[in-house]
Amino acid sequence: MRIDKFLSECSVCSRSEASRAAKQGRISVNGTAVKRADLHIDERKDTILFDGVRVLYEPFFYVFLNKPAGYISATEDTRLPVVTSLLPEKMQKAGVFPCGRLDRDTVGWMLLTNDGELSHRLLSPRHHVEKIYRFTCEKKLCPEAEERIAAGIVISGGEQCKSARLQPDADRMGGEITLTEGKYHEIKRMLEALSNKVTSLERISFAGIPLDRTLARGEWRRVTEDELARLRRAAALS
Ligand code: URA
Repeated sequence: MRIDKFLSECSVCSRSEASRAAKQGRISVNGTAVKRADLHIDERKDTILFDGVRVLYEPFFYVFLNKPAGYISATEDTRLPVVTSLLPEKMQKAGVFPCGRLDRDTVGWMLLTNDGELSHRLLSPRHHVEKIYRFTCEKKLCPEAEERIAAGIVISGGEQCKSARLQPDADRMGGEITLTEGKYHEIKRMLEALSNKVTSLERISFAGIPLDRTLARGEWRRVTEDELARLRRAAALS
């Protein structure tokens, strides 16, 4: 594997930073400083130091999935297919898990990673990470829907939701809702509290990163370096 790829997979630095660091003599392989970031290494055998600190090959994986219906947001289940089964085996073996839950029948944008700290922070209500959903519903949204959702609607079980933004479609038979928390069945329960019912639900954005519509349902791709930087900022990690 190229050393810049290795360092970026191990979340030490981005590939372009690796190139600069190599020129500055900050990277060594088996005791020799490397000058080029395109050098090929054996990540399992070679001793790689970055600023004098050993880098072990325990890569973090970050992927976005366009979740299809019928899959549950888990790493294993005895009865139903799980979202991680859509990823390559090496990612499953490395402990990649879904960052948050989408219901079995909800489709759309989902981050999966084995970076526990990043995932935990992105899900923490403290960081107000925005998730946008498109939904359709059984009947027209009532006139007070936007206001009640903005005020923090009380849903089944007496749970108070945080203030959220509802942008109804022109015909009010659906729209977009922006959440900054993730209660169980939150949007379905919000609509129930408005005497309505969700008929379809799709997540279209996560932390300001929109659903990549070039991916078919069930397809995934790696998070880009820019997107990872954005996720880390959203999680107050940089
Ligand atoms: N709200 C729901 O009701 N379901 C989801 O999957 C996500 C948000």
